Amino acid sequence: MVKQINFGGVIETVYERADFPQEKLNQIFKDDVFAVIGYGTQGRNQSRNLRDKGFKVVVGLRKGPSWDLAKEDGWVEGETLFEITEACNKGTIIMYLLSDAGQKAAWSSIKELVHGKTLYFSHGFSIVFKDKTGVVPPADCDVIMVAPKGSGTTVRTLFLEGRGINSSVAVFQDYSGKAEERAYAAGIAIGSGYLYPTTFERETYSDLTGERGTLMGCIQGIFKAQFEVLIANGHTPSEAFNETVEEATQSLYPLIGKNGMDWMYDNCSTTARRGALDWMDKFYAATKPVFEELYESVRNGTEAENTLVANSKPDYRESLAKELKDLRESQMWQTAVTVRSLRPENQKVEKQ
Ligand SMILES: NC(=O)c1ccc[n+]([C@@H]2O[C@H](COP(=O)([O-])OP(=O)(O)OC[C@H]3O[C@@H](n4cnc5c(N)ncnc54)[C@H](OP(=O)(O)O)[C@@H]3O)[C@@H](O)[C@H]2O)c1
Repeated sequence: MVKQINFGGVIETVYERADFPQEKLNQIFKDDVFAVIGYGTQGRNQSRNLRDKGFKVVVGLRKGPSWDLAKEDGWVEGETLFEITEACNKGTIIMYLLSDAGQKAAWSSIKELVHGKTLYFSHGFSIVFKDKTGVVPPADCDVIMVAPKGSGTTVRTLFLEGRGINSSVAVFQDYSGKAEERAYAAGIAIGSGYLYPTTFERETYSDLTGERGTLMGCIQGIFKAQFEVLIANGHTPSEAFNETVEEATQSLYPLIGKNGMDWMYDNCSTTARRGALDWMDKFYAATKPVFEELYESVRNGTEAENTLVANSKPDYRESLAKELKDLRESQMWQTAVTVRSLRPENQKVEKQ
């Protein structure tokens, strides 16, 4: 029974695993072959979850690093691992999980291979920014989305632990008349925990905002700002890192995740509570305009344009790797390596 649940005063629909037990999934997908196109963190991990759940899966890639990794993961050339167009020919559910720039580049070779099939995305990007990507599906196919709310690595690790990542689900085009049921079923089949409905547009705007904001861009920005202020005032890197990152990730953020922000505050000293309550509004006021600017940059397509330009370059992997190297070699993240090595669980136990 699909649930209507109160989220902070708003009633929303939620689908859970119990709505799609394995027998029901087997029935829904009995004539289907999942063709997973792309082997980034989503393709790699959604395909392995589907395989472990017993569905028919083939992987479609160009030759290169992704191809080699897929072979290492047990996909067999000519049996379950194919060039992209061949995999599309074999699949009935085309899971288009190339990078968003890759989706634009490969679309001309895909679009004639999806007639009568299901075209599956994990992000609304290509469809929402179709003026930039050219991804306009033919009218005679279902177009659905299951967007896991986290890294593909977590899609896999939670699945292996018997848990599941939450995903949003949307239908852009319902040709078969069964697109909605198949979309939710696919969400459970790839290993999601619970599913909530969205649209391609809402998912894209919120996702691009979130990853540039509190999930990734903002968090590095504020960690760096605080770390630098502490260093400039004579604190050691060890102290600055512990007060900026280590305490956050090892102690306080897990408490927020488990029991909420108020509970975390409540379990810190009254000194900390007083200060946090006094300063939160100042940080809110400082960052709200930045988030407004960010959302507008997402909505007006600037972020999409930047992504497509940068990630369409032939050396996109090397450029991203160079920027990540700079991040890794910064004083803060070099300190992190040392701090992690000192965690008791990471030290070799001396034999008595
Ligand atoms: N990462 C996440 O946590 C996450 C979360 C939710 C949704 N999503 C969405 O899931 C989709 C896949 O993202 P991802 O992070 O798994 O992958 P990704 O790292 O963005 O993309 C990597 C894959 O795309 C392939 N690729 C790139 N350009 C290509 C081209 N021109 N032709 C053929 N293949 C090309 C790469 O192959 P090569 O190795 O050959 O370059 C690789 O297999 C995206 O729509 C993304 O927005 C991602």
